[in-house]
Amino acid sequence: MEIRTRRQRNNETLRRMTRETRISSDSLIYPMFVREGKGIVEELASLPGQIRYSPDTLVEGVDKALRLGLRSFLFFGIPESKDEIGCGAYEENGVVQQALKNIKKEFGNDAYLISDVCLCEYTSHGHCGLIENEKIDNDSTLPLLAKTALSHVQAGSDMVAPSGMMDGAVAALRSALDDGGFSDTPIMSYAAKYASAFYGPFREAAGSAPQFGDRKSYQMDYHNGREALKRIQIDIDEGADLIIVKPALSYLDIISQTRKLIRLPIAAYSVSGEYAMIKAAAASGLINEYNVMCESAISIFRSGADILITYFALELSGAIKKGDIG
Ligand code: PBG
Repeated sequence: MEIRTRRQRNNETLRRMTRETRISSDSLIYPMFVREGKGIVEELASLPGQIRYSPDTLVEGVDKALRLGLRSFLFFGIPESKDEIGCGAYEENGVVQQALKNIKKEFGNDAYLISDVCLCEYTSHGHCGLIENEKIDNDSTLPLLAKTALSHVQAGSDMVAPSGMMDGAVAALRSALDDGGFSDTPIMSYAAKYASAFYGPFREAAGSAPQFGDRKSYQMDYHNGREALKRIQIDIDEGADLIIVKPALSYLDIISQTRKLIRLPIAAYSVSGEYAMIKAAAASGLINEYNVMCESAISIFRSGADILITYFALELSGAIKKGDIG
């Protein structure tokens, strides 16, 4: 007997029938930047093709995405002014709170609103927590994160995503939301977030680069994999409903190991640097942007992710509609 592969790859219908990985626009989350002001629609130099909106114009951006079949959005705020304790993050009328109110009012439940909960875009020092003696003070940061999350949900957020890697953040948010009457609101935790050079373009876009030191005391060391599994377990025990692995492409092993271990949905965050690399290489004619975008997205789902947070969400939604992937 001769062992053959049956050359199934020669037949397009069979090839599609036997695809192991399926994705749909329902599994994509589109990250968007909103800055204080009015009438702002500006392209981000560090993230070509991505736009910084103000709370009023954001409505147009979300509308465009909804028309392309996207449903879920993750908002990052850029305040007018910053201070030591990140007041802008938890102001009742802060930039993200304004944006959430506007979008909820306009689209109701047609758009699923997720808000990033962190201080780094709002602190003058650019760190994700309060600073005491040049060090992050984990525990005094927690009430401020809880306050931020509650104010987001009151403004219309459907789900909160703590991204600062502070110990105990998930538990602090859970109890604040429960006490505030929002026990149904889920928490998507950035449980395995690495101290990564791939965040560069985001920090430029959000003006959130640390003014001294780095984030290595709270974000994870990329030499470690098992530590991610431990962090994820801690966040699950604290009440996380979904967990994020971030970045995505250099961390597919973490996604795949996590998949084997946990039952909760896993979201992979394909970060700004991953997007910018593809854009830059394509702009220099070195790769085909569309094909690399499709292949990268599928590889993330193949590794075990259920959800992909990506700046390519609009284009991927188009590729799914065309039938090129999915
Ligand atoms: C805030 C936050 C960051 C990103 C998401 N939330 C930046 C950071 O940790 O410096 C990065 C997202 C991206 O690079 O696309 N803590």
